[in-house]
Amino acid sequence: MSLKEKINPAKLPQHIAIIMDGNGRWAKQKGAERIYGHENGVKSVRETVEAAAELGIKYLTLYAFSTENWNRPQEEVMALMQLLVHTINAETPTLNKNNIRLQAIGNLKSLPKDCFDELQDAIAKTQHNTQTTLVLALSYSARWEITNAMKEIAEKIENKTLTASQINEETITAHLCTASIPEPELMIRTSGEHRISNFLLWQLAYSELYFTDTLWPDFKRENFYEAIIDYQNRERRFGKTSEQLIS
Ligand code: FPP
Repeated sequence: MSLKEKINPAKLPQHIAIIMDGNGRWAKQKGAERIYGHENGVKSVRETVEAAAELGIKYLTLYAFSTENWNRPQEEVMALMQLLVHTINAETPTLNKNNIRLQAIGNLKSLPKDCFDELQDAIAKTQHNTQTTLVLALSYSARWEITNAMKEIAEKIENKTLTASQINEETITAHLCTASIPEPELMIRTSGEHRISNFLLWQLAYSELYFTDTLWPDFKRENFYEAIIDYQNRERRFGKTSEQLIS
């Protein structure tokens, strides 16, 4: 039985989020520059997106660039942005062929103009696709997102379209970048780091977390299947007891 066959199609997560980590270490192990790791990371992105669409995973969110990543050496930031522009441009026909819609979350206005324009163009060109939504988290951090949501809610209170007593969890969810996206049931982080690193802090409240030592450029289809199988073998209790779940 192949790994793919071990996946129960009736118990697929609707939304998988991934922290793609370890590109730099992968390149260093090979005696190469960090950008070589990012370039090979793109191959893993392609493979994972294809596998998700084939399985029928409805949402796949990839943490491609964090707010904190702007603090990396200027040379690496520029190279990463160029890689993003190039990849989005080159992959748009493939996204359309595979019926994949592109979305982006984060402080997109802080992206270089060519990157922002390329992204908006690809989002528009793929907007009617329905198989899988690929969400790129770009210049994203959860604290930035939650702060932004709080500002928007405060403005509504100031202009009296909302009262403090009306605020509930749904109000906050509705003001996040992910307002129209279901919460991830599964979050994967590669490269042996056991952290959330300012990624989807609100949305991951009940997610299953899966950590693997595999570095992102080595993360392939089979590794993705393994994570899903591991998820399917877990019991999600949402604060209840096992007995309550059976009854
Ligand atoms: C983390 O590895 C990776 C990133 C910060 C960038 C991820 C970007 C890509 C895979 C390329 C473009 C992606 C898309 C969606 C087109 P790291 O540099 O932090 O590695 P390290 O922890 O080993 O230093």
